[in-house]
Amino acid sequence: MKEKERAETALQHPATIETPADNHPLLFPIYQNVKWETETVAETLRVYRGERPGFFYSRASNPTVRQLEQLLASLQGREECLTTASGVNVIAQTLLALTQTGDHVLFFVEGYGPTRHIIRTLLARFGVSHTMLSIEDLEGVRPVLASRPVKVMFFESPTNPVNKIADIAALTAMAREFGVTTVIDNTSAGFHQHGEFDIDLYIHSLTKFTTGAGDVMGGAVIGDRATIERLRHDFGLFGAQLDPLSASLMVRGLKTYLLRYREQSARALAIAQFLESHPACARVRYPGLASHRGVELARRQMRDFGCVITFDVVAGAEAGRQFAEKLRYFAMTPSFGSTESLVMPPQLMQPKDLDAEDRGKSDIHASTVRLSIGLEALEDLKADLAQALAT
Ligand SMILES: Cc1ncc(COP(=O)(O)O)c(C=O)c1O
Repeated sequence: MKEKERAETALQHPATIETPADNHPLLFPIYQNVKWETETVAETLRVYRGERPGFFYSRASNPTVRQLEQLLASLQGREECLTTASGVNVIAQTLLALTQTGDHVLFFVEGYGPTRHIIRTLLARFGVSHTMLSIEDLEGVRPVLASRPVKVMFFESPTNPVNKIADIAALTAMAREFGVTTVIDNTSAGFHQHGEFDIDLYIHSLTKFTTGAGDVMGGAVIGDRATIERLRHDFGLFGAQLDPLSASLMVRGLKTYLLRYREQSARALAIAQFLESHPACARVRYPGLASHRGVELARRQMRDFGCVITFDVVAGAEAGRQFAEKLRYFAMTPSFGSTESLVMPPQLMQPKDLDAEDRGKSDIHASTVRLSIGLEALEDLKADLAQALAT
């Protein structure tokens, strides 16, 4: 008879509950677990070297995180995905993994501020140079690619925060011609758009649309298997993996992703039209508006135009502050894509890293406001905006 374990030992080795092979839970378990054991050294080495399926250490891979990665890859129409702890982290890791001293990166001034910092300060410290153009300066791209070897072209569409639209077909065709790796920050367009373009890598902040609840942070890079495998080793060394609980919340949240994205886009279009007709608002920038400079491109490239609206308050920055503070249903906080509506006043929008000329190109003016439209009733949102704009 097996000797009864002492309490100290039993506590370290509780029984594993096996589920029968024909009896599946509907939700995949949260593998809140760091270490996996395989029975022999030989088999452990085979797992470790990737010669057979299995897990070894959650910094390298975890089943719950893998479920999310496969779901994201399929949504974006690509083979593979790597997730990390935040959107900014995945941008930094991807750019560090793709470049080395002497390389050159082409990117665009209208994009997300921290991306500019990563390229202009972090990469620059390691001897990676860059050219920064306006995303509307398509003519300027070819001369840069022709004048020197360019390793990476990094762009966004729609750009955050001012919703400019990149001509993706034109950019990727030029990049292919010159052997440049293309990376799009596709956070604003969502996981289900732009998959048909010849883009090498798609980056997403998972913090926004995966759950829409503002309860998780994460980042993802998605592409073909070979390209992602080239990043995997470096990503392991950076060690900023997504945790399994967040991954599980994201898989759960994604069940309603398409409904949320489309519903928020529909509300955003209605609100953009409302703001455009309001005398207190100028230069309303929403890609679904007929008046938007990039509307033809947006209609060609996108089916849903997203939840971000940017506009200028006619009466100036101080009026923009009062407007943001008077809003009842719009939380004054960063980010976008959540099911609650959000507002960023002009004072919190100003790019501090740009000189006057680049500020002009960035299209963020002294009284520019950004809204993120959530799932509140459209009439309540309109009434709230109207009362806040009345002052
Ligand atoms: C376009 C874009 N990319 C990346 C990020 C960074 O994502 P995270 O906040 O998850 O680090 C953001 C965040 O606002 C963003 O707007």
